Amino acid sequence: MFRFVARSAGGKHLLRRGYATESAPDRKVAVLGAAGGIGQPLALLMKLNPLVSRLALYDIANTPGVAADVCHVNTRSEVSGYLGQALEGCDVVVIPAGVPRKPGMTRDDLFNINAGIVKGLCAAIAKYCPNALVNMISNPVNSTVPIAAEVFKKAGTYDEKKLFGVTTLDVVRAKTFYAGKAKVNVADVNVPVVGGHAGITILPLFSHATPKANLPEDDIKALTKRTQDGGTEVVEAKAGKGSATLSMAYAGALFADACLKGLNGVPDVVECSFVQSTVTELPFFASKVRLGKNGVEEVLGLGPLSDYEKEGLEKLKPELKASIEKGINFANKS
Ligand code: NAD
Ligand code: LMR
Repeated sequence: MFRFVARSAGGKHLLRRGYATESAPDRKVAVLGAAGGIGQPLALLMKLNPLVSRLALYDIANTPGVAADVCHVNTRSEVSGYLGQALEGCDVVVIPAGVPRKPGMTRDDLFNINAGIVKGLCAAIAKYCPNALVNMISNPVNSTVPIAAEVFKKAGTYDEKKLFGVTTLDVVRAKTFYAGKAKVNVADVNVPVVGGHAGITILPLFSHATPKANLPEDDIKALTKRTQDGGTEVVEAKAGKGSATLSMAYAGALFADACLKGLNGVPDVVECSFVQSTVTELPFFASKVRLGKNGVEEVLGLGPLSDYEKEGLEKLKPELKASIEKGINFANKS
């Protein structure tokens, strides 16, 4: 088993919320699928995060090169590249392992390959770092999160507060598209996105968007459709060379950072995520979630919806339910 460890010179960053790097808690983050299109820029972004003290990179191939490269960045964390076990002592595990879409495919078309990959990785998480927060990026998220839950249940380690489907890219897109249409500063924009992470299951709540812009209904419908089709827009533009990687690495790094802040006790950390939920009758659902020292501190409700959003919510439920059940059945049969 190859093991590569390098300590980089510690950069002296001041954290945004008060304490200096030297006094920040020891936090180990693993990226599984670290040599991939998402994994590499995500590894870099996590190396830049001063909340991370140990960064473990794992992939089935090319990990030593990625680790050797990233470890030269002069920030706090020690980087390890493992082709074996990366997970012991992890606080947060981010999973972008698995195949991406090609034009003409749905995310569900990835199920047959990615379900097995996720199942294997989650079995290892249950064994080596059962207390870690798991950030699932691998598609189809609507099914891979339920698969992870079943694997953890079988292992006796399931804690619904610690399992997250990463839907941050939907929020990132909704913010970008809304800012463009409403002609407001994108840095000031907030838009919750609820439901799931595939096609019509992605439901941006533009009625909650701030700053308020009173956009006409046609604009809201066009923004909703563009957010729902954002992944496909990138898949088609890449023309067979994969799906969103850079924007996803950014979104994945934002979400992992929010998890770390919650673990470190920073108050009022709220992000959208696909989690176990009672917000609707579905067992998993994406909505705003308050993050804390144990992961999910509170799953927030939807609040008032426009008629268009109410309709979208009812339309998405059958597809999301079927994807969740497909994941659960896979995990229990195989
Ligand atoms: P990629 O093919 O570039 O990289 C995937 C990496 O996973 C490869 O390096 C591969 O070697 C590795 N891998 C495969 N099996 C593994 C295993 N068992 N253990 C560890 N690593 C393994 O793909 P990508 O563009 O990085 O996309 C990865 C996944 O993320 C895809 O399923 C894609 O659909 C998904 N994705 C999700 C979102 C989201 O918003 N949640 C956004 C973009 C992409
Ligand atoms: C995305 O939203 O970009 C990802 O889910 C990748 C994809 O297949 O669209």
